[in-house]
Amino acid sequence: MASQSQFEVVPTGAALGADITGLDLAAAIDAASFGRLSRAWGDHLVLRFRDQSLDEAALIEFSARFGVLDAAPRRPVNVPNHPTRSEINIVSNIIENGTPIGGLGNAELVWHQDMSYKDLPPKASLLYAIETPVTGGDTHFYNLYSAYETLPPELRARIETLLCKHDATRNSAGQLRAGFDADYANNQRPGAVHPLVVRHPDTGRKSLYLGRRPNAWVVGLADADSDQLLDALWAHVEAGSLNWAQHWRPGDLVIWDNRCTLHRRGTLDPAQRRLMYRTQVRGGHAAGGSD
Ligand code: SIN
Repeated sequence: MASQSQFEVVPTGAALGADITGLDLAAAIDAASFGRLSRAWGDHLVLRFRDQSLDEAALIEFSARFGVLDAAPRRPVNVPNHPTRSEINIVSNIIENGTPIGGLGNAELVWHQDMSYKDLPPKASLLYAIETPVTGGDTHFYNLYSAYETLPPELRARIETLLCKHDATRNSAGQLRAGFDADYANNQRPGAVHPLVVRHPDTGRKSLYLGRRPNAWVVGLADADSDQLLDALWAHVEAGSLNWAQHWRPGDLVIWDNRCTLHRRGTLDPAQRRLMYRTQVRGGHAAGGSD
């Protein structure tokens, strides 16, 4: 197996993110190089590899170096899954013969962590760009370790042992997934419960674990109290500059640590085609953050 250990790690200079240069993801990566890559991922939370050429099998093979892959999430009605590879989630605004070829359309996506509405959310997501718009459709990433560390101390203490219910019924574009009702009371809403503060199983660092704002509920609080607390946490996120934006080019592969980052997508021009393949690596969810 040829060593590809000469690759470079080039930090973005923002609160997270690094470029990896000199690594061909379609070729074999030896254990030492993969170990270095994993450490860079732990340090920078989001890694970008440019100018890659990956078919479905190569994308799945590289993704599976990080662990067992999850199946793509449940779709809204009329959005098909990848025809042959259940691990690949097609994210696209392209419509063929009146049917979208993938999910999430042209919508601006809210800040979120992927599939946090599951008991064991993915630890990593990988997004590979096949067709990209010239303008728009950037993906923004946010460092939730730093968000936790910079919370006002009284707010940090208040949330330390609280749990949050993450809504399963709608995707990050606000679309209803197949099989769910349009509305639920907070205590009956389908989804998963996770601590608001988690400890990363690899780095040992604490971070916020917010999922997404719409339909979230702090377990046990009256709806108004829950909304007030979540609004305060999200205001902290929105006010911060702990983010980095990825402007996509075809052949870009980005992996993010879904346990300690948020991401969102900016607006998309429907006239500009965008086609991405996403995979997600199962589990390794951190336990509650309390010492
Ligand atoms: C996603 O949230 O997985 C998709 C992000 C994007 O389309 O940029």
